[in-house]
Amino acid sequence: MKSSNRIIVALDFDGRRAAEQVVDRLGDECRFYKVGLELLTAAGPDLVESLVARGNEVFLDLKLFEIPNSVAGAVRAAGALGASMVTVHAMGGTDIMAAAVAAARDFPRLRVLALTVVTSMTGSDLTDIGVNASTEEQVLRLARLASNAGCHGVIASPQEAAQLRDVLGAGSLIVTPGVTLPGTSPTEHARPGTPRAAITAGASHIVVGRSVTRAEDPVAAVRLVRADFGL
Ligand code: C5P
Repeated sequence: MKSSNRIIVALDFDGRRAAEQVVDRLGDECRFYKVGLELLTAAGPDLVESLVARGNEVFLDLKLFEIPNSVAGAVRAAGALGASMVTVHAMGGTDIMAAAVAAARDFPRLRVLALTVVTSMTGSDLTDIGVNASTEEQVLRLARLASNAGCHGVIASPQEAAQLRDVLGAGSLIVTPGVTLPGTSPTEHARPGTPRAAITAGASHIVVGRSVTRAEDPVAAVRLVRADFGL
């Protein structure tokens, strides 16, 4: 896999114009974008189709947590837009993950990723919601569940990537947000890591947002990420 295809830039914007400005500036430096609920809701699904039509891959970060029938419908809608990745909450259980995987079969390029524990959560947040496990234990438990349900991969923090690679084997995707550039202070990510740390630990892709999209020079920022890979 080319290193440029392993960097996903998160377009966390409140409108189409700002997002397209970054995409235009990055050009061939980045061909993989994450569209989340904010941008999807603000700009509409046309933006996803337009990104795909312009030769980009799109990770549609829907974080689905619904009844299986509704999850399947949303996954089909994501596939119809041309998305390459879509997310479902592993905490929603086997049925919704299996429904997502079944719905994705009609779209050969679409991969279903299970969200384990969001990178902003800590052990005490898990205790608050009645989960008596460390974040690490919970991530691994949910990853096994996701794998058994047929998911193509998981979302996890860089700090769990190595153990996940052991558990999931070589074929699974491991996509890690919570990536910060060396020398910058972490934002609200509780379990951050550098691009190199994430990739060395076994991540297949990294997601980087504000460090690139809010940089004065987004192209230079993406190049820094790639340089940090050391691949
Ligand atoms: O922090 P950054 O702007 O790089 O975030 C990029 C993506 O990482 C966001 O779109 C979000 O989905 C994810 N993220 C996360 N946990 C956080 C912050 C961001 O999973 N605490």
